[in-house]
Amino acid sequence: MNKAQKLIETHVGWLIVLTITTISVAMLVEILPLMFSKSVTKPIEGVKPYTAVQLAGRDIYIREGCYNCHSQMIRPFRAETERYGHYSVAGESVYDHPFLWGSKRTGPDLARVGGRYSDEWHRAHLIHPQDVVPESVMPSFPWLAAQKVDAEAMPAKMAALRKVGVPYTDADIAGATKAVEGKTEMDALIAYLQGLGLALKNKR
Ligand code: HEC
Repeated sequence: MNKAQKLIETHVGWLIVLTITTISVAMLVEILPLMFSKSVTKPIEGVKPYTAVQLAGRDIYIREGCYNCHSQMIRPFRAETERYGHYSVAGESVYDHPFLWGSKRTGPDLARVGGRYSDEWHRAHLIHPQDVVPESVMPSFPWLAAQKVDAEAMPAKMAALRKVGVPYTDADIAGATKAVEGKTEMDALIAYLQGLGLALKNKR
């Protein structure tokens, strides 16, 4: 054992300081360049900020805990791309605050579910999944059809998202209440689902 090694390995203070230094440098080298890379900070072509209705639906998706059973992250493996379509890329999530990649798949990944089924299919499925998929273990969400979206809350939500970089215009924000007025939570959630993953939909 040489002298330096002995000094480090027999003095726990040195060991801790040098371990932290090593990990910090490695993190800077790995993470910092990514923070400035266009591939992760800029939306890919076709990705637009959520409309007011879709945004309301996204909040319902979060409230109901859909992400506990559904991921929105297709990994770049053949088994996944064959089933779900093009793997997920960072530029698809730049307007997601917070992102909903998830880590648990009790049900299928939903990153590209947009356009896969009709609105009516989703409606039937959310009210009682077993009506369309008999063996389903997904719970029912019938109350979504009976509850109206909180329209008054939309402008403040969009203004908050603008602060973190989502390019909503003043007109978007001013029109948000009207855009969701009268919509049920079911309508909003379906609008959100139908918009998922369209930018890379037909690519593999
Ligand atoms: C307890 C777990 C669980 C929860 C919570 C859950 N799901 Fe599911 N989901 C499933 C399972 C299992 C399936 C596959 C069977 C089926 O299609 O019903 C599924 C299927 C789906 C599908 C069809 C996907 C496809 O590609 O065929 C959609 C869309 C969906 N869920 C949306 C939702 C939404 C929206 C919510 C929240 C309101 C939700 N799920 C909550 C378990 C869950």
